[in-house]
Amino acid sequence: MTDSLTKLTYQAFQQGKSYFSLTHKTLTSQLLNWISPITTELKTEPLSPEILLKVQSLLNQIIETDWEDAEQGVYPVSLLFDNPWDDFFRYYPMLLLDLPQGRQRINQKLYQDFSPDIDTEGYPSYYVQNFHHQTDGYLSELSANLYDLQVEILFSGAADLMRRRVLAPLKTGLLKAFNDIPEKQIRLLDVACGTGRTLRNIRAMLPKASLFGVDLSPNYLRKANQLLSEIPQELPQLIQANAEDLPFPDNLFHGLTCVFLFHELPASVRQRVIDECFRVTKPGGIFIICDSIQLQDYPDFKPMLENFSKTFHEPYYHHYMTDNLEEKLEKAGFQTLNVQTHFASKYWIAHKPD
Ligand SMILES: C[S@@+](CC[C@H](N)C(=O)[O-])C[C@H]1O[C@@H](n2cnc3c(N)ncnc32)[C@H](O)[C@@H]1O
Repeated sequence: MTDSLTKLTYQAFQQGKSYFSLTHKTLTSQLLNWISPITTELKTEPLSPEILLKVQSLLNQIIETDWEDAEQGVYPVSLLFDNPWDDFFRYYPMLLLDLPQGRQRINQKLYQDFSPDIDTEGYPSYYVQNFHHQTDGYLSELSANLYDLQVEILFSGAADLMRRRVLAPLKTGLLKAFNDIPEKQIRLLDVACGTGRTLRNIRAMLPKASLFGVDLSPNYLRKANQLLSEIPQELPQLIQANAEDLPFPDNLFHGLTCVFLFHELPASVRQRVIDECFRVTKPGGIFIICDSIQLQDYPDFKPMLENFSKTFHEPYYHHYMTDNLEEKLEKAGFQTLNVQTHFASKYWIAHKPD
Protein backbone atom coordinates (compact mmCIF):
# COMPACT_ATOMS: atom_id res chain seq x y z
CA MET A 1 0.00 0.00 0.00
CA THR A 2 2.77 2.44 0.99
CA ASP A 3 4.65 1.46 -2.14
CA SER A 4 1.66 2.12 -4.39
CA LEU A 5 1.12 5.48 -2.73
CA THR A 6 4.79 6.41 -3.10
CA LYS A 7 4.73 5.34 -6.74
CA LEU A 8 1.60 7.42 -7.41
CA THR A 9 3.17 10.41 -5.67
CA TYR A 10 6.33 9.99 -7.75
CA GLN A 11 4.36 9.72 -11.00
CA ALA A 12 2.32 12.81 -10.10
CA PHE A 13 5.54 14.68 -9.21
CA GLN A 14 7.05 13.86 -12.61
CA GLN A 15 3.83 14.67 -14.49
CA GLY A 16 3.71 18.00 -12.65
CA LYS A 17 7.25 18.83 -13.80
CA SER A 18 6.39 17.78 -17.34
CA TYR A 19 3.24 19.98 -17.48
CA PHE A 20 5.17 22.88 -15.99
CA SER A 21 7.90 22.51 -18.65
CA LEU A 22 5.36 22.36 -21.45
CA THR A 23 3.52 25.43 -20.16
CA HIS A 24 6.79 27.31 -19.73
CA LYS A 25 7.96 26.45 -23.27
CA THR A 26 4.61 27.36 -24.86
CA LEU A 27 4.09 30.64 -23.01
CA THR A 28 7.64 31.93 -23.21
CA SER A 29 7.98 31.17 -26.92
CA GLN A 30 4.69 33.03 -27.59
CA LEU A 31 5.78 35.95 -25.45
CA LEU A 32 9.23 36.10 -27.05
CA ASN A 33 7.75 35.88 -30.55
CA TRP A 34 5.63 38.88 -29.62
CA ILE A 35 8.29 41.07 -28.00
CA SER A 36 11.30 39.95 -30.06
CA PRO A 37 10.36 37.84 -33.10
CA ILE A 38 13.02 35.65 -34.70
CA THR A 39 14.35 37.59 -37.67
CA THR A 40 16.93 35.08 -38.83
CA GLU A 41 15.87 32.03 -40.83
CA LEU A 42 16.15 28.89 -38.69
CA LYS A 43 14.34 26.50 -41.06
CA THR A 44 12.99 24.22 -38.35
CA GLU A 45 10.48 21.49 -39.16
CA PRO A 46 7.16 21.11 -37.34
CA LEU A 47 6.92 17.85 -35.36
CA SER A 48 4.22 15.36 -36.31
CA PRO A 49 1.65 14.17 -33.71
CA GLU A 50 3.23 10.67 -34.04
CA ILE A 51 6.63 11.99 -32.90
CA LEU A 52 5.08 13.86 -29.99
CA LEU A 53 3.15 10.76 -28.90
CA LYS A 54 6.29 8.64 -29.10
CA VAL A 55 8.23 11.17 -27.01
CA GLN A 56 5.46 11.07 -24.38
CA SER A 57 5.55 7.28 -24.37
CA LEU A 58 9.36 7.29 -23.89
CA LEU A 59 8.94 9.74 -21.03
CA ASN A 60 6.40 7.42 -19.36
CA GLN A 61 8.80 4.50 -19.84
CA ILE A 62 11.75 6.24 -18.19
CA ILE A 63 9.55 7.21 -15.22
CA GLU A 64 8.64 3.53 -14.86
CA THR A 65 12.28 2.39 -15.15
CA ASP A 66 13.38 4.98 -12.60
CA TRP A 67 10.75 3.74 -10.17
CA GLU A 68 11.69 0.08 -10.75
CA ASP A 69 15.41 0.70 -10.15
CA ALA A 70 14.62 2.49 -6.88
CA GLU A 71 12.13 -0.17 -5.82
CA GLN A 72 14.70 -2.90 -6.49
CA GLY A 73 17.17 -1.08 -4.25
CA VAL A 74 19.67 0.12 -6.85
CA TYR A 75 19.34 3.51 -5.09
CA PRO A 76 17.09 4.89 -2.35
CA VAL A 77 13.46 5.78 -3.20
CA SER A 78 14.06 9.21 -1.59
CA LEU A 79 16.36 10.04 -4.53
CA LEU A 80 13.32 10.08 -6.81
CA PHE A 81 12.12 13.23 -5.05
CA ASP A 82 15.48 15.00 -4.93
CA ASN A 83 14.78 18.37 -6.41
CA PRO A 84 16.57 21.68 -5.81
CA TRP A 85 13.42 23.64 -4.83
CA ASP A 86 15.40 26.52 -3.31
CA ASP A 87 17.14 26.97 -6.64
CA PHE A 88 13.84 26.75 -8.48
CA PHE A 89 12.18 29.61 -6.60
CA ARG A 90 15.34 31.68 -6.52
CA TYR A 91 16.40 31.32 -10.14
CA TYR A 92 13.22 30.82 -12.18
CA PRO A 93 12.55 34.61 -12.29
CA MET A 94 16.18 35.16 -13.40
CA LEU A 95 15.78 32.52 -16.09
CA LEU A 96 12.73 34.40 -17.42
CA LEU A 97 14.56 37.72 -17.34
CA ASP A 98 17.50 36.20 -19.25
CA LEU A 99 15.37 34.84 -22.13
CA PRO A 100 15.29 38.05 -24.25
CA GLN A 101 19.10 38.11 -24.28
CA GLY A 102 19.17 34.60 -25.75
CA ARG A 103 16.68 35.69 -28.43
CA GLN A 104 18.84 38.72 -29.21
CA ARG A 105 21.88 36.46 -29.69
CA ILE A 106 19.86 34.24 -32.06
CA ASN A 107 18.78 37.24 -34.13
CA GLN A 108 22.25 38.78 -34.23
CA LYS A 109 23.90 35.36 -34.82
CA LEU A 110 26.18 35.92 -31.84
CA TYR A 111 27.65 32.60 -30.78
CA GLN A 112 30.76 33.71 -28.89
CA ASP A 113 29.25 36.59 -26.95
CA PHE A 114 30.74 37.08 -23.47
CA SER A 115 30.46 39.91 -20.94
CA PRO A 116 33.69 41.95 -20.72
CA ASP A 117 34.36 40.68 -17.18
CA ILE A 118 34.45 37.02 -18.32
CA ASP A 119 37.96 35.70 -18.78
CA THR A 120 37.87 33.36 -21.79
CA GLU A 121 41.65 32.96 -22.02
CA GLY A 122 43.17 29.50 -21.77
CA TYR A 123 40.02 27.55 -22.70
CA PRO A 124 39.91 25.47 -25.89
CA SER A 125 38.30 27.47 -28.71
CA TYR A 126 35.55 24.84 -29.19
CA TYR A 127 34.45 25.55 -25.60
CA VAL A 128 34.21 29.33 -25.82
CA GLN A 129 30.67 29.30 -27.20
CA ASN A 130 27.20 30.30 -26.07
CA PHE A 131 25.98 26.69 -26.05
CA HIS A 132 22.13 26.76 -26.01
CA HIS A 133 22.48 30.57 -26.46
CA GLN A 134 23.33 30.67 -22.75
CA THR A 135 24.47 34.02 -21.42
CA ASP A 136 28.27 33.72 -20.92
CA GLY A 137 28.34 30.10 -22.13
CA TYR A 138 29.58 27.98 -19.22
CA LEU A 139 31.72 30.74 -17.81
CA SER A 140 29.67 32.74 -15.31
CA GLU A 141 27.96 32.33 -11.97
CA LEU A 142 24.62 33.24 -13.55
CA SER A 143 25.02 30.48 -16.14
CA ALA A 144 25.85 27.94 -13.39
CA ASN A 145 22.80 29.02 -11.36
CA LEU A 146 20.39 28.74 -14.28
CA TYR A 147 21.76 25.60 -15.95
CA ASP A 148 19.98 22.86 -13.98
CA LEU A 149 16.65 24.60 -14.33
CA GLN A 150 17.16 25.12 -18.08
CA VAL A 151 18.04 21.46 -18.64
CA GLU A 152 15.18 20.29 -16.46
CA ILE A 153 12.70 22.34 -18.51
CA LEU A 154 14.24 21.21 -21.81
CA PHE A 155 13.81 17.54 -20.81
CA SER A 156 10.30 17.91 -19.35
CA GLY A 157 11.49 17.31 -15.79
CA ALA A 158 13.40 14.13 -16.68
CA ALA A 159 17.04 15.35 -16.65
CA ASP A 160 17.94 13.48 -13.46
CA LEU A 161 16.01 10.41 -14.61
CA MET A 162 18.36 10.24 -17.59
CA ARG A 163 21.43 10.81 -15.38
CA ARG A 164 20.25 8.03 -13.03
CA ARG A 165 20.28 5.46 -15.85
CA VAL A 166 24.07 5.27 -15.40
CA LEU A 167 23.58 4.00 -11.83
CA ALA A 168 22.38 0.42 -12.40
CA PRO A 169 25.11 -0.48 -14.95
CA LEU A 170 27.72 1.24 -12.79
CA LYS A 171 26.72 -0.77 -9.72
CA THR A 172 26.57 -4.03 -11.70
CA GLY A 173 29.97 -3.37 -13.32
CA LEU A 174 31.62 -2.56 -9.99
CA LEU A 175 30.14 -5.59 -8.25
CA LYS A 176 31.29 -7.85 -11.04
CA ALA A 177 34.88 -6.64 -11.20
CA PHE A 178 35.63 -5.38 -7.68
CA ASN A 179 33.35 -7.38 -5.39
CA ASP A 180 36.19 -8.05 -2.93
CA ILE A 181 37.08 -4.37 -2.49
CA PRO A 182 35.42 -2.40 0.36
CA GLU A 183 33.17 0.41 -0.92
CA LYS A 184 35.37 3.00 0.79
CA GLN A 185 38.28 2.04 -1.46
CA ILE A 186 36.27 2.37 -4.68
CA ARG A 187 37.27 5.47 -6.67
CA LEU A 188 34.83 6.97 -9.18
CA LEU A 189 35.25 9.92 -11.53
CA ASP A 190 32.51 11.94 -13.21
CA VAL A 191 34.00 13.63 -16.28
CA ALA A 192 32.48 17.07 -17.12
CA CYS A 193 30.53 16.92 -13.87
CA GLY A 194 28.94 20.35 -14.41
CA THR A 195 26.88 21.34 -11.36
CA GLY A 196 27.38 17.92 -9.77
CA ARG A 197 23.98 16.33 -10.27
CA THR A 198 25.37 12.98 -11.46
CA LEU A 199 27.78 12.89 -8.51
CA ARG A 200 24.86 13.65 -6.19
CA ASN A 201 22.96 10.70 -7.62
CA ILE A 202 26.02 8.41 -7.38
CA ARG A 203 26.58 9.50 -3.78
CA ALA A 204 23.05 8.37 -2.86
CA MET A 205 23.80 4.91 -4.29
CA LEU A 206 27.37 4.59 -2.92
CA PRO A 207 27.58 6.61 0.31
CA LYS A 208 31.16 5.55 1.12
CA ALA A 209 32.95 5.53 -2.25
CA SER A 210 35.61 8.17 -3.04
CA LEU A 211 34.08 10.45 -5.64
CA PHE A 212 35.88 12.82 -7.98
CA GLY A 213 34.60 15.30 -10.55
CA VAL A 214 36.33 17.34 -13.24
CA ASP A 215 34.98 20.15 -15.37
CA LEU A 216 36.44 23.10 -17.29
CA SER A 217 34.12 25.66 -15.73
CA PRO A 218 35.16 27.12 -12.36
CA ASN A 219 31.65 28.48 -11.79
CA TYR A 220 29.99 25.14 -12.46
CA LEU A 221 32.45 23.47 -10.06
CA ARG A 222 31.63 26.06 -7.40
CA LYS A 223 27.95 25.32 -7.88
CA ALA A 224 28.65 21.57 -7.71
CA ASN A 225 30.55 22.08 -4.47
CA GLN A 226 27.54 23.90 -3.02
CA LEU A 227 25.10 21.19 -4.14
CA LEU A 228 27.28 18.33 -2.90
CA SER A 229 28.03 20.00 0.45
CA GLU A 230 24.34 19.71 1.31
CA ILE A 231 24.64 15.93 1.69
CA PRO A 232 26.27 14.54 4.82
CA GLN A 233 28.77 12.06 3.32
CA GLU A 234 32.36 12.82 2.35
CA LEU A 235 32.59 15.68 -0.15
CA PRO A 236 33.64 14.61 -3.67
CA GLN A 237 36.94 16.09 -4.83
CA LEU A 238 36.30 18.57 -7.62
CA ILE A 239 39.08 19.66 -9.94
CA GLN A 240 39.11 22.16 -12.78
CA ALA A 241 40.55 20.25 -15.73
CA ASN A 242 40.17 19.51 -19.39
CA ALA A 243 38.77 16.03 -20.05
CA GLU A 244 41.36 15.74 -22.85
CA ASP A 245 44.13 15.85 -20.26
CA LEU A 246 42.94 14.38 -16.98
CA PRO A 247 45.14 15.24 -13.97
CA PHE A 248 45.27 11.66 -12.66
CA PRO A 249 47.73 8.76 -12.91
CA ASP A 250 47.04 5.74 -15.11
CA ASN A 251 44.62 3.02 -13.91
CA LEU A 252 43.31 5.01 -10.93
CA PHE A 253 39.51 4.71 -11.16
CA HIS A 254 37.27 1.69 -10.74
CA GLY A 255 34.51 3.49 -12.60
CA LEU A 256 33.97 6.61 -14.73
CA THR A 257 30.82 8.34 -15.90
CA CYS A 258 30.39 11.14 -18.40
CA VAL A 259 26.98 12.73 -18.88
CA PHE A 260 25.91 15.09 -21.70
CA LEU A 261 29.46 16.03 -22.76
CA PHE A 262 30.15 14.28 -26.07
CA HIS A 263 27.60 16.15 -28.22
CA GLU A 264 29.39 19.38 -27.20
CA LEU A 265 32.80 18.25 -28.44
CA PRO A 266 34.27 18.27 -31.95
CA ALA A 267 34.78 14.74 -33.33
CA SER A 268 38.57 14.58 -32.86
CA VAL A 269 38.23 15.79 -29.26
CA ARG A 270 35.70 13.02 -28.55
CA GLN A 271 38.38 10.44 -29.37
CA ARG A 272 40.98 12.20 -27.18
CA VAL A 273 38.58 12.30 -24.22
CA ILE A 274 37.76 8.60 -24.61
CA ASP A 275 41.51 7.80 -24.80
CA GLU A 276 42.09 9.76 -21.58
CA CYS A 277 39.21 8.00 -19.85
CA PHE A 278 40.72 4.67 -20.89
CA ARG A 279 44.11 5.68 -19.48
CA VAL A 280 42.77 6.49 -16.01
CA THR A 281 40.40 3.48 -15.79
CA LYS A 282 41.67 0.47 -13.84
CA PRO A 283 41.82 -2.82 -15.77
CA GLY A 284 38.42 -4.40 -15.17
CA GLY A 285 36.91 -0.94 -14.57
CA ILE A 286 33.77 0.43 -16.13
CA PHE A 287 33.16 3.56 -18.23
CA ILE A 288 29.64 4.81 -18.94
CA ILE A 289 28.80 7.55 -21.41
CA CYS A 290 25.34 9.10 -21.34
CA ASP A 291 24.47 11.50 -24.13
CA SER A 292 21.76 12.35 -26.63
CA ILE A 293 20.05 9.65 -28.67
CA GLN A 294 21.40 9.45 -32.23
CA LEU A 295 19.76 9.30 -35.62
CA GLN A 296 20.15 5.53 -35.99
CA ASP A 297 18.23 4.96 -32.72
CA TYR A 298 15.08 6.73 -33.92
CA PRO A 299 15.29 7.63 -37.64
CA ASP A 300 11.75 9.07 -37.44
CA PHE A 301 13.01 11.63 -34.86
CA LYS A 302 15.23 13.24 -37.53
CA PRO A 303 13.25 16.53 -37.62
CA MET A 304 13.39 16.78 -33.82
CA LEU A 305 17.15 16.16 -33.65
CA GLU A 306 17.81 18.58 -36.50
CA ASN A 307 15.61 21.23 -34.86
CA PHE A 308 17.60 20.84 -31.64
CA SER A 309 20.88 21.33 -33.46
CA LYS A 310 19.56 24.47 -35.22
CA THR A 311 17.66 26.22 -32.44
CA PHE A 312 19.97 25.53 -29.49
CA HIS A 313 23.35 26.53 -30.87
CA GLU A 314 24.97 23.13 -30.56
CA PRO A 315 27.78 23.46 -33.13
CA TYR A 316 28.98 19.83 -32.86
CA TYR A 317 25.62 18.11 -32.49
CA HIS A 318 25.05 17.55 -36.20
CA HIS A 319 28.21 15.46 -36.47
CA TYR A 320 27.46 13.77 -33.14
CA MET A 321 24.06 12.60 -34.43
CA THR A 322 25.75 9.98 -36.62
CA ASP A 323 29.10 9.55 -34.88
CA ASN A 324 30.15 6.01 -34.03
CA LEU A 325 31.17 6.16 -30.37
CA GLU A 326 31.44 2.37 -30.15
CA GLU A 327 34.22 2.50 -32.72
CA LYS A 328 35.95 5.27 -30.75
CA LEU A 329 35.64 3.28 -27.49
CA GLU A 330 37.10 0.20 -29.12
CA LYS A 331 39.91 2.21 -30.75
CA ALA A 332 40.90 3.38 -27.26
CA GLY A 333 40.94 -0.21 -25.97
CA PHE A 334 37.54 -0.48 -24.27
CA GLN A 335 35.12 -3.34 -24.87
CA THR A 336 31.56 -2.11 -25.32
CA LEU A 337 29.37 -4.30 -23.15
CA ASN A 338 26.01 -2.78 -23.90
CA VAL A 339 24.35 0.17 -25.63
CA GLN A 340 20.91 1.32 -24.45
CA THR A 341 18.54 4.24 -24.89
CA HIS A 342 16.18 5.78 -22.34
CA PHE A 343 13.90 8.72 -23.29
CA ALA A 344 16.16 11.28 -25.03
CA SER A 345 19.48 9.69 -23.99
CA LYS A 346 21.79 6.95 -25.15
CA TYR A 347 24.21 4.97 -22.95
CA TRP A 348 27.45 3.25 -23.90
CA ILE A 349 28.54 0.85 -21.17
CA ALA A 350 32.16 -0.08 -21.69
CA HIS A 351 34.78 -2.04 -19.81
CA LYS A 352 38.58 -1.95 -19.75
CA PRO A 353 39.78 -5.53 -20.23
CA ASP A 354 41.93 -7.03 -17.43
C1 LIG B 1 25.95 19.91 -21.14
S1 LIG B 1 26.96 20.16 -19.76
C2 LIG B 1 26.78 18.64 -18.85
C3 LIG B 1 27.08 18.82 -17.38
C4 LIG B 1 26.71 17.64 -16.48
N1 LIG B 1 27.47 16.46 -16.78
C5 LIG B 1 25.24 17.36 -16.49
O1 LIG B 1 24.86 16.20 -16.38
O2 LIG B 1 24.44 18.29 -16.53
C6 LIG B 1 28.56 20.01 -20.41
C7 LIG B 1 29.63 20.23 -19.35
O3 LIG B 1 30.86 19.85 -19.92
C8 LIG B 1 31.86 20.77 -19.51
N2 LIG B 1 32.92 20.66 -20.53
C9 LIG B 1 32.85 20.92 -21.85
N3 LIG B 1 34.01 20.64 -22.47
C10 LIG B 1 34.83 20.14 -21.50
C11 LIG B 1 36.17 19.64 -21.50
N4 LIG B 1 36.89 19.58 -22.62
N5 LIG B 1 36.69 19.22 -20.33
C12 LIG B 1 35.98 19.27 -19.18
N6 LIG B 1 34.72 19.74 -19.12
C13 LIG B 1 34.15 20.16 -20.27
C14 LIG B 1 31.14 22.10 -19.44
O4 LIG B 1 31.82 23.03 -18.65
C15 LIG B 1 29.78 21.66 -18.88
O5 LIG B 1 29.79 21.70 -17.48
